[in-house]
Amino acid sequence: MEKKVAIVTGGVAGIGKAITLGLAAEGYLVVVCDVNDERGNALAEEYSGSVVYRNCDVSDEESVKDVVDKVSAEYGRIDVLVNNAGIIRRRTGEEISTADWDLVFRVNVRGAFLFCKHAAEVMKKAGKGRIINVSSVAAKLGDITSAPGYGPSKAAMDGLTKTFARELAALGITVNGVAPHAIETDMSAEWSPERRAAIIDAIPMKKLGQPEDVAAAVLFLASEGAKFITGEIIDVNGGFLMD
Ligand SMILES: NC(=O)c1ccc[n+]([C@@H]2O[C@H](COP(=O)([O-])OP(=O)(O)OC[C@H]3O[C@@H](n4cnc5c(N)ncnc54)[C@H](O)[C@@H]3O)[C@@H](O)[C@H]2O)c1
Repeated sequence: MEKKVAIVTGGVAGIGKAITLGLAAEGYLVVVCDVNDERGNALAEEYSGSVVYRNCDVSDEESVKDVVDKVSAEYGRIDVLVNNAGIIRRRTGEEISTADWDLVFRVNVRGAFLFCKHAAEVMKKAGKGRIINVSSVAAKLGDITSAPGYGPSKAAMDGLTKTFARELAALGITVNGVAPHAIETDMSAEWSPERRAAIIDAIPMKKLGQPEDVAAAVLFLASEGAKFITGEIIDVNGGFLMD
């Protein structure tokens, strides 16, 4: 495969879709891994030749390994991996079940770990690769919409980013993250009108971000210009958190 190959998890909707289309526009063949077959198949049909859809539950090691093995066998390369799939369960600490808390960690942390683990083996053979993890401002602040599994899962993801960054740096593979806040997607559509207004009011730019704003940061981290950057997590938040 002469084209560069990217894997984007959770790539059929919201931020993941913007990342997918951004990479496709830059000439990548993008393998989108998601559990929403209807949207996935429609996306692959619309962008045939640039986007391929694979059903893959990121929390399931067999599914992840199967995708990585098939991509490696069919195309011979994985240049970029974007761990974007994520879920949130908005409940108080009292309300959330341990099963829901575990599920958030299985998708957000275990999913990213499994793809890093298996895709890195393909990248190591090539002596190069870019891994980009989609975190959240909630990693640093806790979750402002009352989701006791979500903030901790993103903090764990940031730890994963820095740990893999150290392990893989000398092998030509960079591992970075982006940390969005308040991006207009299905996930943020769950906010009540009052919550939405309060969130916008707390952002210095006084507006929500767009999925393309996050995709732009991901594209930079995947670019040649970012070759000396690793273990970094870029805030994409309209000035909400400046640290
Ligand atoms: N929207 C925001 O304001 C915001 C803010 C900070 C961080 N984020 C992060 O950005 C990422 C994308 O968020 P979004 O708002 O676009 O969400 P979204 O809900 O619109 O999209 C998430 C995608 O992940 C997929 N997915 C869910 N579980 C999966 C699984 N087990 N295996 C494979 N795919 C799965 C969904 O089908 C969906 O396509 C998430 O990691 C989220 O935590 C979003």
